[in-house]
Amino acid sequence: MLKTDKYPCVKEIEANKFPAVIHFEAGTPASTLVDFFNEFRSGIETLLLKSGAVLFSGVDISSRDIFEATVSRMGDDFINYADGNSPRTKLSDKVYTSTEFDPAQSITMHNELSYSAKWPSRIFFSCIQPSETGGETPLADGRLVLKHMDAGLVEKIRQEGVIYYRNLHGGEGFGPSWQDTFETNSREAAEAFCREAAIDFVWKDDGGLRLIQKRKGILEHPVTGELVWFNQVDQFHPYHLGQQTYEVMMDMYGSTDALPTYASFGDGSSIPNEVIASIKEIFNNIEVVRPWEKGDLVLVDNVLVSHGRKPFTGARQILVSMLA
Ligand SMILES: [Fe+2]
Repeated sequence: MLKTDKYPCVKEIEANKFPAVIHFEAGTPASTLVDFFNEFRSGIETLLLKSGAVLFSGVDISSRDIFEATVSRMGDDFINYADGNSPRTKLSDKVYTSTEFDPAQSITMHNELSYSAKWPSRIFFSCIQPSETGGETPLADGRLVLKHMDAGLVEKIRQEGVIYYRNLHGGEGFGPSWQDTFETNSREAAEAFCREAAIDFVWKDDGGLRLIQKRKGILEHPVTGELVWFNQVDQFHPYHLGQQTYEVMMDMYGSTDALPTYASFGDGSSIPNEVIASIKEIFNNIEVVRPWEKGDLVLVDNVLVSHGRKPFTGARQILVSMLA
């Protein structure tokens, strides 16, 4: 499929792995990867749809500038992170840091922006600086996740969809502000975004903004037609933090309406705590965890595959770029 005679720097292709891996000779210039990628674009596309994610290893992607130049030539139609729920820094129109969320905590598995009206079809992740310990980006195949979920739960979500709730503060408070979320200081611009994205919103007296968005939760892949688990209800639901933290949060906020984030079934009924726990367990069993190596570049089909983040120590820099 991928004839590599012209590219002796390509040492091995592991097509049947998850993620698929294309091993380059250590220190291969990023421009060579770009040439290879563009020459074999359709083969790589086939590999990506089959595996869900492709890792290019051994390439010299050692700075933000190299990362940006590389992904700029591998994709077009980059999108921003408006409506994002995780703290991160926008480094340019195309490049973000991966989440700056507390290094001591895990981030649960999610498809990027699955709660939003628009999500990236593809995501590039690259490791500029590996952490000292941990910090992996686990990946899970949403086709497999769906197969392991309780059939009754899948049917309920297919019929009803899911609803995500967020309470964003107006400058100071827990979690992200609406200004950071919508990448604007203008209330009008935030409202326009919400209307466009089918998000119900309510301004609060303290300057905060409450968002309610109903989404499908299970999707058909736009190219392959395969059904995939495509939601992050467990991440929005505080029970994913464990029974004890859940109880503390419920005491602190008093009701589910006041929680920073929450999720329910699409008919408004609660998702039982044990269902949230079972979703988390299924992801734990299915996720594939691979340590980052400096220069690794991973291309993920964001509908087929979810990702998360393991806790870490030490400096870690993973850059992210998203394609429409
Ligand atoms: Fe993410």
